[in-house]
Amino acid sequence: MEKKALLYEGKAKRIYATDDPDLLIAEYKDDATAFNGLKKGVIANKGILNNKISAFFFTLLAQSGVESHFVKLLSDREMLIKRAEIIKVELVVRNIAAGSLAKRLGLEEGWVLPRPVVEFYYKDDALGDPFINEDHIAVLGLATAEQVKFMAAQALMINEILTAHLKTCNVILVDYKLEFGLHHGKVLLADEISPDTCRFWEATTKEKLDKDRFRRDLGGVEAAYQEIYKRLTGGEQ
Ligand code: TMP
Repeated sequence: MEKKALLYEGKAKRIYATDDPDLLIAEYKDDATAFNGLKKGVIANKGILNNKISAFFFTLLAQSGVESHFVKLLSDREMLIKRAEIIKVELVVRNIAAGSLAKRLGLEEGWVLPRPVVEFYYKDDALGDPFINEDHIAVLGLATAEQVKFMAAQALMINEILTAHLKTCNVILVDYKLEFGLHHGKVLLADEISPDTCRFWEATTKEKLDKDRFRRDLGGVEAAYQEIYKRLTGGEQ
């Protein structure tokens, strides 16, 4: 698969064209940002780890019937993906109060929610990805009601699959963010699923094994990403 023009560069990935108009290459970078780009840094080997962790999760989800843009791994930092037009709605699923939910509703971090909660955010860097509801999605024309219903149902199905698998690794899935895209009119899970986009807590110690270590200057950031990779695959990078 030949890597062609750079189509898009985001905060954590570069997207390249290939010789097949239906396929793109996602290249994962070590760059890390937080708080809508206000905090910047580099996490050594993050690109390699997130590429492989995402590939692991996309493969696991495919085995349970959740289709994503993932086609195959190409190299340490690159995966082949289906071309999809990203829907400008980010879905966050929460199992435990943390981060912005804890802050917004005055909840203690670590409070186990009685049931999972699905939230929507408008994917717009200039606005700082504001919290929105289904009416906002409709009036902004971001997605149809049917697409929203499908994405929310997929997000909850993904929650069951990931939570169950991570439990076998002694990791708690606290919350995570998903993005979907349109591929020939079909809604597909897109972007990545990694310690950048999820909160993972070690089940016994409740130690944070995700990007909160970077956001909150806790140290041991690369080691946390390595630990997630190791628990999922049994290997080291
Ligand atoms: P939050 O508590 O800051 O709203 O984050 C909820 C989840 O979404 C958490 O697992 C981190 C993830 N997330 C992203 O992937 N990208 C983002 O820009 C933000 C703010 C959160």
